[in-house]
Amino acid sequence: MLISDLDGTLLGDDQALQKFAEGWEQLAETSLLVYSSGRLFHSVSTSIRTTGLPTPDLVICGVGTEIRDPQTGTEWTHWTNHFIAWDAERITNLLKHRSDLQLQPDEFLSPWKVSCFAHNWNSRAINALHSQLTSEGMQCRIVYSSNRDLDILPQAAGKGNAALYVGQQLTIPPQNIVSAGDSGNDLCLLQSTGKGIVVANAWDELRQLQHPSIYHATQPFAAGVMDGLTHWWGCDWP
Ligand code: GLC
Ligand code: MG
Repeated sequence: MLISDLDGTLLGDDQALQKFAEGWEQLAETSLLVYSSGRLFHSVSTSIRTTGLPTPDLVICGVGTEIRDPQTGTEWTHWTNHFIAWDAERITNLLKHRSDLQLQPDEFLSPWKVSCFAHNWNSRAINALHSQLTSEGMQCRIVYSSNRDLDILPQAAGKGNAALYVGQQLTIPPQNIVSAGDSGNDLCLLQSTGKGIVVANAWDELRQLQHPSIYHATQPFAAGVMDGLTHWWGCDWP
């Protein structure tokens, strides 16, 4: 199974994506394809319809907060049930008065994902926010990407936990799962699977990742994913 991020990973080079899509037709006979995006389902679904992305078997969206069937949009409520009591509104109310971050527009927010723009934050600022939320009784996971996007999610959610859950439900062990990504919200995804691909255009937050299970592709975007699958699975591409 391949679990791949979209923006900056499979999306970014249309020609390379077309080649990936052609090659995937054959791989699809033996492998599953899952997209894992920071975006919510309606937006991922539009991309699947309007770009060269092959139709996947499953979509993980909202930074690992939702798992859905790509054709019908049907949600795996047994996943969201893990954090049903999480209170996004309380977090939103606390954050909306801060001057060092801005809530993202409503279309990017959900009951399981409070997302902000927080430009050039460092790990100290992120840890301080986490401590504040925790001390006020709000258990959460903070994910920071591309020097700008700050997502606050239920602790049990996130791309890594969602990937592990999908693997468990489909009885695919982590060593049979390859993940691919380009930015901070992919960090825990890459660490949760047995094999990872960091595309060559990745942000520094991933380029620094050094582990035997992580392959740093020499190519950017979809060409990097193909390079990585050649490395891990020995695939040939058309
Ligand atoms: C996507 C989402 C945004 C999120 C970002 C990083 O761009 O739309 O809400 O902050 O991914 O995870
Ligand atoms: Mg990305």
